[in-house]
Amino acid sequence: MKTNRTFTMIKPNAVENGHIGAIIQQITEGGFKILAMKYTHLSAGEARKFYEIHQEKPFFETLVSFMSRSPIVVMVLEKENAVEDFRKFIGATNPEVAEKGTIRQKYGKDVTENAIHGADSNENAEKEASFYFSKREIFD
Ligand code: RTP
Ligand code: MG
Repeated sequence: MKTNRTFTMIKPNAVENGHIGAIIQQITEGGFKILAMKYTHLSAGEARKFYEIHQEKPFFETLVSFMSRSPIVVMVLEKENAVEDFRKFIGATNPEVAEKGTIRQKYGKDVTENAIHGADSNENAEKEASFYFSKREIFD
């Protein structure tokens, strides 16, 4: 993945509550350009695979069951310093302590159902994007 790209997922709680449009608007107004986007869903097995780095964590099964319960929206985004800037932009993992106005503060319910995902490194952004998208689906 080029260093100006990141990967995101609008999580089931935000999709269920009708916040796709508002979240995409906030992302694009925040200066992130959408290079690829898909409305999709994960089976429990696929969620386990996607989050395999967390398999030893106590919250793993809760996370898998949440992420596979209903549809998600996945995107590849472009901006200078994309990974770091997007993590800052969405707010802290726990919506209760996320900065005011961030996507997690506005649309997150709790530390599990925190509305949105942001890749944490260029390497993981690449891996995560290729989980959902073929090379030709990502604008280049
Ligand atoms: P993400 O990967 O979704 O962008 O979130 P993150 O880096 O801020 O947090 P991470 O540690 O990677 O955790 C991945 C997701 O697992 C759920 N989680 N639950 N119950 C808990 O203590 C707990 N901790 C994390 C969240 O959905 C988190 O985003
Ligand atoms: Mg993470």
